[in-house]
Amino acid sequence: MRTKINIAPLLIISGIIAISWYSIKKVPSLKEAYKKDFLIGTALNAAQIEEENPIANELIKQQFNAITPENIMKAEIIHPKWDTYNFELADKLVNYGKKYNIQINAHTLIWHSQLPYFMHTIKDADSVKQYFVNHINTIASRYDGKILSWDVVNEALNEDGTLRNSIFLQKLGTDYIVEAFRLAQKAAPHTELYYNDYNIEEPRKRKGAIELIKKIQAAGVRIDGVGIQGHWKAYNIPLKDIEESIEQFSALGIKIMFTELDLSVLPNPWDGNVADVNKHEENNNAAMNPYSTGLPDSMQNKLTKGYEDLFKLFLKHKTQINRVTFWGVNDGQSWLNDWPIKGRTNYPLVFDRQFNPKPAFYNIINLKK
Ligand code: XIL
Repeated sequence: MRTKINIAPLLIISGIIAISWYSIKKVPSLKEAYKKDFLIGTALNAAQIEEENPIANELIKQQFNAITPENIMKAEIIHPKWDTYNFELADKLVNYGKKYNIQINAHTLIWHSQLPYFMHTIKDADSVKQYFVNHINTIASRYDGKILSWDVVNEALNEDGTLRNSIFLQKLGTDYIVEAFRLAQKAAPHTELYYNDYNIEEPRKRKGAIELIKKIQAAGVRIDGVGIQGHWKAYNIPLKDIEESIEQFSALGIKIMFTELDLSVLPNPWDGNVADVNKHEENNNAAMNPYSTGLPDSMQNKLTKGYEDLFKLFLKHKTQINRVTFWGVNDGQSWLNDWPIKGRTNYPLVFDRQFNPKPAFYNIINLKK
């Protein structure tokens, strides 16, 4: 007996995809609108690199000319064991960029977070040094010539501008950042090399970042740019600090990127714009998750205005800015739904959970009309 296959659900799903594709096609493109100004980037998760969702894929190709891997090039994934590297997804990312003509910023070589388990068991300085050298040499050389840039060192500074007491500082001493850039320069001579951090627009931390960059330059080592992450609050964006930072960092003769832009609309359990992925808050108080059923207009307007103010500033300084990257494609993907408190509903990006452009998107586009 032949089994009857019910194709109705398949037809419905294809219909939804076709309609979404059709509506995506009609949307203006950020990368087109800003093509004379700076690159427009996004962060891709593993599923997006594997092109699992055709709607997401269509939107990425249409809107962005730069991509950063959200997690898959972090040490815990790409270098899980002392002698084992896992290049599968990073290689796919490189192919993705080639296929769709999108530039890649690799993230990140040296960072105290998301380290492989074995790094937490190492106690002696020699082994840390060996890890450091092998990690940079192996990974940076593999992708040289295939990517645009590396975040060589991520988040090495404390809020007061001093060096963070990471395993690298403890075991390798204060010159480890210069050494990371020196190794990267040798292993990846055709790749731009950046220092990346959050909150370095804030004057005290900025001062530390400027000293760090000057120290690398004084050692005769190449540093091409600085990435200001840009994890801010929609209702309180430090525009003045950002503008001063653009001016002061560009005076060092380096490029400026906004590398992980998102504007949280939710209450923050702490003051400031700290984006330390290791800091979490247990707080299930409903007041901390006020928009689980939708974003009220009053907050949507703040988000829209926040993005508009920021992009106005970016355009004013476009000759100093090379790239602006959103940290995720749409609101559903954002890490800010689970950080610093798990299971909240945040709305920090310019595409909503259904991949539709939000008012903030149109205001950014309209600045170019
Ligand atoms: C975040 C990712 O978005 C999450 O998926 C992951 O669980 C934690 O890290 N600063 C950085 C990024 O440099 O790598 C972080 O990304 C966000 C803060």
